[in-house]
Amino acid sequence: SQRVKIKQILLSDSVNYEVTVKGWVRTFRNNQFIALNDGSTNNNLQVVVNEADTDPAVFRRITRGAAISVTGQIVPSLGAGQKVELKTATLEILGDCDAEVFPIQPKKQSLEFMREIAHLRFRTNTFGAVFRLRHALAFAVHKFFNDKGFVYLHTPIITASDAEGAGEMFRVSTLDPKNPPLNENGDIDYKEDFFGRATNLTVSGQLEGELGAMAFGDIYTFGPTFRAENSNTARHLAEFWMIEPEMAFYELKDNMDLAEEFIKYVIRYTLDNNREDLDFLAQRLAEEEKQKPQAERSPMGLIEKLEFVLNNEFTRITYTEAIEILKNSKPNKNKKFQFPVDEWGTDLQSEHERYLVEKHFQKPVILTDYPAAIKSFYMKQNDDGKTVRAMDILFPGIGEIVGGSQREENYDKLVRRMNELKIPVEELYWYLDTRRFGTAPHAGFGLGFERLVLFVTGMTNIRDVIPFPRTPKNAEF
Ligand code: 4AD
Ligand code: MG
Repeated sequence: SQRVKIKQILLSDSVNYEVTVKGWVRTFRNNQFIALNDGSTNNNLQVVVNEADTDPAVFRRITRGAAISVTGQIVPSLGAGQKVELKTATLEILGDCDAEVFPIQPKKQSLEFMREIAHLRFRTNTFGAVFRLRHALAFAVHKFFNDKGFVYLHTPIITASDAEGAGEMFRVSTLDPKNPPLNENGDIDYKEDFFGRATNLTVSGQLEGELGAMAFGDIYTFGPTFRAENSNTARHLAEFWMIEPEMAFYELKDNMDLAEEFIKYVIRYTLDNNREDLDFLAQRLAEEEKQKPQAERSPMGLIEKLEFVLNNEFTRITYTEAIEILKNSKPNKNKKFQFPVDEWGTDLQSEHERYLVEKHFQKPVILTDYPAAIKSFYMKQNDDGKTVRAMDILFPGIGEIVGGSQREENYDKLVRRMNELKIPVEELYWYLDTRRFGTAPHAGFGLGFERLVLFVTGMTNIRDVIPFPRTPKNAEF
């Protein structure tokens, strides 16, 4: 008979039909009941085996973790907890598993421990739900932009430029690190390297994205990006996925409107299509919250938190307004910020961002018009001569989830700014060409995909929402 996914069997009310299911044994109880999981859902299919009818050599090998194939009838279940079960006609062991040494135990195991066995953690309910949601969000991202007529542009992973001008790049080289060729100054001679020049892993696809927007009008990228910043936090990865839409003829306000609509759309998509996994994670989070002292508990559950974001407009204020609020605020009764905000121009730390969204406004906030000195070279300069048309979206529990801006479309102003910041103008001639040949107002933003997945799943460490986290001193598997 045909192989059927467990999710499909459990969604349907039909009984008395034959199926084949294949999956992994989660538990085997009373020598009779197998809880079988095939990854399509967290709900296991109860498989009933009759020891008397089973070859003892096969029966012995039904262990936690083993891969099996079962054919039989789907029948109404007499036991509580499930409507249907599979009555085994034939059972085949596909792959044995020694349950004594299998690290996934049928009890609660810490997320820290799971990170050490990240190669096996997909086989737990928590990570099953997290990574199915991650998939659903990725699908919703493509659906949102496709429905709006955006072109998905694949920008390069290996590049010679530093899109953010922050110097946080991983070098890509095939030169012998112990004995690299040197030039007359004694520096490594990258002319001898694979590409004939120094190259890095991309920190952002934005600059190439802008080239696309200047032809297709609306594009987006969605790919891995890399940052060699030594930030060992629960919000930073060395390899993360970023979604970067770039739109011709957009100004900052259009950019903010699109970003807000986009975030709401993908959250709505998961509420409409992935409720089972969201409910599972909501339950998980509620249990975690119960462990905390009353005062530290979140007033909202996961589903409420998601619905709250959908039902409220994001607050939009300028950096200058935010500084005024922060100057006059005490984060905790008498405690000051660790980094006091005393003058205009200082970059906001995550404690300030979180104060604004979690305490002051208690909802997502879009901060605009930052000082030019703390933002990237490509942002459109305001007439005040000190701020740029930047926008950062800050989320409760996350901090910065989006960074974006209107771009400087004026060739002379852009070149002047690049020179001030010692950005190599000649090397970026291809980028500047967009400003020479039919330049137009345009804007875009970058959303950190893992930060979005963190928010939607209610997980708290970014290492738990990417299948294979890359962080300082960690690239094991
Ligand atoms: O603010 P960032 O650096 O902006 C850019 O890269 C622009 N080129 C985007 C654009 O306008 N097209 O990064 C954008 C977002 C951040 O808001 C954050 O969500 C995420 O990327 N991000 C990271 N996520 C995980 N780990 C890191 N190390 C991250 N660095 C940035
Ligand atoms: Mg940023």
